Amino acid sequence: MKEPLRVGIAGLGTVGASVARLIARNAESLATRAGRPIALTAVCARDRSRDRGLDLAHAAWHDDASALARDPDVDCVVELIGGDEGPARALVEAALSAGKHVVTANKALLAKHGLALARLAEENGVALAFEASAAGGVPVVKTLREALSGNRVSRVSGILNGTCNYILSRMEAEGLSFAACLADAQRLGYAEADPTFDVEGYDAAHKLAILTSLAFGVALDPEAIYVEGISKIAPIDIAMADELGYRIKLLGVAERTKTGIEQRVHPTMVPKTASLAQVMGVLNAVAIDADAVGELSLIGPGAGGDATASAVIGDICDVAVGATRPAFGVPAARLERPQRAPMQRHEGGYYIRLSVFDRPGSAAGIATRMAQADISLESIIQHRARTADVDPTGRSGAPVPVVLITYATTESAIREALARIDADGHVAEPPQVIRIERE
Ligand code: NDP
Ligand code: HSE
Repeated sequence: MKEPLRVGIAGLGTVGASVARLIARNAESLATRAGRPIALTAVCARDRSRDRGLDLAHAAWHDDASALARDPDVDCVVELIGGDEGPARALVEAALSAGKHVVTANKALLAKHGLALARLAEENGVALAFEASAAGGVPVVKTLREALSGNRVSRVSGILNGTCNYILSRMEAEGLSFAACLADAQRLGYAEADPTFDVEGYDAAHKLAILTSLAFGVALDPEAIYVEGISKIAPIDIAMADELGYRIKLLGVAERTKTGIEQRVHPTMVPKTASLAQVMGVLNAVAIDADAVGELSLIGPGAGGDATASAVIGDICDVAVGATRPAFGVPAARLERPQRAPMQRHEGGYYIRLSVFDRPGSAAGIATRMAQADISLESIIQHRARTADVDPTGRSGAPVPVVLITYATTESAIREALARIDADGHVAEPPQVIRIERE
């Protein structure tokens, strides 16, 4: 058997500790598959005294992450610290520059610096591997980069954040509060160090930037992504979605349109009968539309220590067998810079929840503004207020929720109509707008 691949892991938290544990537990089968042993020779984290339940007796400890990149006993650096700057970026740059392979799960770093890092890896003839960076344990990076090489991809979409899907699933199924579900997601190791990245949609956007690059052979362009998170989704929206036959999911979508590549992350009403609507809890799902294969779906755990470690170890095995493909499928210099399709031109159906002053003329005024923007309404729902609030004359003026469902229209038409409705003084609060994905 060949010499061992000597691995250094920086970051021994949720994912790093799982990677170290799995390398030890599955040493024999890993060596057989990789054609050589995988040896953990160095580690790095902040707190050396913390008991992580790991046997690190044969691994050198580094307090400074960049020192791990310089360690002569490390061939492959596994970056599991996180963050788009600071020690993670310094470590990855130092490792690639020193001619060491890098495996990372860090989507924030890749979304921001992926192109430059891919160039650095090519210049130094080493691998930059990141299967775990998008959809955790779901092997979507390799699918797009390798298995679908013979296709022209037209669309990649799906549920890309386990924390958000877990929160939305439990809010719907158990009627729990947003805060309680988020706290559980953190306890289970699903959430980012700063959970704002999850719930405001940035984490899903980082992953979408990576998938867009792999799918369409384009340079990463995270700034082109329209991003909205789930923090403003209220229990009433979940209940209305249920009543209307939908489920709310945080979706990431990238597609070729006539005006360029559209990239968006936002809460979406998905019909309950759609396969995406069945994807619950921490599961992620990615649907790929491609000319040769047709539609392909991948579903699996999108977060969590062992699930993510599974993808990291797959990459380590690739490094061990000597696979060094261009990081994003084509050489960095060949990645195109296509036109961005503006969100204003997005077309689709909309759910709009308004807090409408309950007085004569409000509903007619709203319908008029919608018609003026050329928006056709599929339904209008206004539930009777609670008995205590009911004014027998119907003229109390107290705000009541009114939900509008539109047929397909454009984002710009919706924005224009809502601005006018607001200016007319019909609504008490900013509207809730959720895009609808019909089958
Ligand atoms: P954790 O917060 O659990 O772990 C981070 C680790 O990095 C800790 O061991 C910490 O040390 C160490 N660390 C932090 N700062 C430094 C530093 N300056 N120098 C050295 N070590 C440092 O994060 P996760 O394991 O959850 O995530 C790691 C990466 O994997 C992130 O990029 C994340 O986005 C990504 N990821 C996470 C998934 C998940 O489900 N958790 C899924 C997919 C990707 P110490 O332990 O001593 O504090
Ligand atoms: N915080 C991320 C999520 C981890 O919840 O999906 C996996 O990338």
